[in-house]
Amino acid sequence: MIKAFAPATVSNVAVGFDIMGFPMEAPGDEVLIKEGKEPGVVISKITKGKGLSYDPSKNTAGVAVLKMLEHLGMSNRSIDIEIRKKMPFGTGIGSSAASAVAAVVALNHFLQTKLTKRELLPFAMAGESVASGAWHGDNVIPCMMGGIILIRDNATLDFTKLYVPNGLRYLVILPPAQILTSESRSILSDTVTLKQMITQTGNAATLVAALYNGDFEKISRCLRDVVIEPQRAHLIPKFQEMKARAMELGALGFSISGSGPSMFALCSNTFDCDNIEAAAKELYGKDHHGRDAAQVYQSSINQEGAIVC
Ligand code: HSE
Repeated sequence: MIKAFAPATVSNVAVGFDIMGFPMEAPGDEVLIKEGKEPGVVISKITKGKGLSYDPSKNTAGVAVLKMLEHLGMSNRSIDIEIRKKMPFGTGIGSSAASAVAAVVALNHFLQTKLTKRELLPFAMAGESVASGAWHGDNVIPCMMGGIILIRDNATLDFTKLYVPNGLRYLVILPPAQILTSESRSILSDTVTLKQMITQTGNAATLVAALYNGDFEKISRCLRDVVIEPQRAHLIPKFQEMKARAMELGALGFSISGSGPSMFALCSNTFDCDNIEAAAKELYGKDHHGRDAAQVYQSSINQEGAIVC
């Protein structure tokens, strides 16, 4: 039996809609692959995945495995999949991507196929697209490869792993809400104005340069999304209040993680992250069990991506 771990991801990174993302250190999904009892693929167990399909052709991990076996000419192979969800789905931290990525990494090891991470990407992408209803690698690629990923072209998965300056940290807030990526995409306008295009490309391109230069002030000026955030912010409880608080407390930038409702901040130090974490817990209060209603994660950017464990 082989077990793989694949991390949650923050995609878009404010100014790179569908073309930028980075993995978190935690949480992440685990997928276990073992020999099945009969030819074909079976999902035998899903932990904490209420509502997820056990039908491999409708499950992100299942589809990823089916596509990979088809590619290898091993569609009759007996494969048993167990999925351990360690993060809520519909929260904008790449839950479907994590399951798909963990599944192909585990299968690769189990079959001893020795495909590279780069070669595994299309199968994970096929799995993830079942959930998101679109083909964008801004969760799958960082989840697999680690680091801040910039995608030039989603169709061919042409991407670059960017330099991450020392000291850069993220903080991710999961508010008590759920939004499906497919729904959050369906509300977006198909068009942008020339003015928005100029601002967004200026910010995205300069963000890359500022990362390489370790210029935190410039990184901060770049993290301003004039296209997607204004269209989605209203879906997220207390988004504007949380953003204002985070910026006051020193965040370099604050925006929506993926399709929401999770939010992320980038910070230059732990002190600011800790203050923003405390502010988030205060703003979202307690749930009816007396626990913090918002979950908060912070760390430095995960440089490794998916692993066999
Ligand atoms: N770039 C995608 C979106 C990510 O924002 O719709 C979804 O996780």
